Amino acid sequence: MIDERVQLMANDAVADDFYLARWQAPHIAAQVEPGQFVNIEVAAGVAPLLRIPLSVCAADPQAGYIDVLYEDMGPKSQALSRLVPGVQTQCLGPLGRGFPPPAQGAGAILVGGGIGVPPMLYWGAVLRRCGVRVVLLVGARHRGKHLPDPLLAPAADTVRRATDDGSLGHAGLVTDLLRDELAEAGPHQVYCCGPHGMMQAVAALCREMEAPCQVSLEEYMACGIGICVGCAVELVGAEDDSDYSRYARICVDGPVFDARRVKWGH
Ligand SMILES: Cc1cc2nc3c(=O)[nH]c(=O)nc-3n(C[C@H](O)[C@H](O)[C@H](O)COP(=O)(O)OP(=O)(O)OC[C@H]3O[C@@H](n4cnc5c(N)ncnc54)[C@H](O)[C@@H]3O)c2cc1C
Ligand code: FES
Repeated sequence: MIDERVQLMANDAVADDFYLARWQAPHIAAQVEPGQFVNIEVAAGVAPLLRIPLSVCAADPQAGYIDVLYEDMGPKSQALSRLVPGVQTQCLGPLGRGFPPPAQGAGAILVGGGIGVPPMLYWGAVLRRCGVRVVLLVGARHRGKHLPDPLLAPAADTVRRATDDGSLGHAGLVTDLLRDELAEAGPHQVYCCGPHGMMQAVAALCREMEAPCQVSLEEYMACGIGICVGCAVELVGAEDDSDYSRYARICVDGPVFDARRVKWGH
């Protein structure tokens, strides 16, 4: 992990309120793995005070850059969307633990929703380079929130989309698509990142259909390095477990967890 001085190379709108930012960050690009994230300072003053945690969605160690994809939804992401190429800032990373590989011979089903899609793009591209067959299932509220084909295509052999309002792809939930995919023959490993309710539903479906599932929890964070305990998640455990063993810090113990270890239901 390094707090690197990074330079913004591009920061372009790619879908409704979604931006793709490329950073010259040679040290982080050389170390980062799929599923890990960075904590980027978006303003030199006191507001917004905290850095923004964002998953890395692509990295090129040779060219020395990393990409992040983010949705403008509040003070930090809005400040980031206003930065112009050439700006320099601090970027802490790579942080957290990334995705474990699938079992030998298993295909990968990546399920992403909203701001949970970016880590799937990096992981899908790396898995394909390793010869793993990848299906990417993406859910969004409506057509305008879906990322464009050129961003999704390198991450999967097959991409299937769902929208809540039926304006693109399957009209309904991304879990409908997942049920179809899991019904196909062959061993699968599911990876999921998205809104809490979506991940909970995916975890339940995988349990029902006996498919292994890893989830990436993108919860609220402060320090990002394990000190403040602001990102605690409750794990499944015995009633008499101490708080110390019942809770994990998403920023250092995750953000990727086996879905069966997470205590869902809130
Ligand atoms: C490990 C990790 C990886 C992440 N990767 C990405 C990414 O690749 N792309 C991306 O766009 N975002 C990602 N996020 C979420 C991103 O950090 C938050 O959206 C951002 O901090 C919001 O800050 P803000 O000041 O812009 O908005 P805020 O004012 O903090 O929030 C605006 C709205 O978003 C909601 N919100 C804020 N943070 C989260 C969150 N973590 N999960 C769900 N809802 C939230 C709030 O309830 C509020 O409604 C990630 C978060 C973590 C912890
Ligand atoms: S964000 Fe501070 S411990 Fe995880």
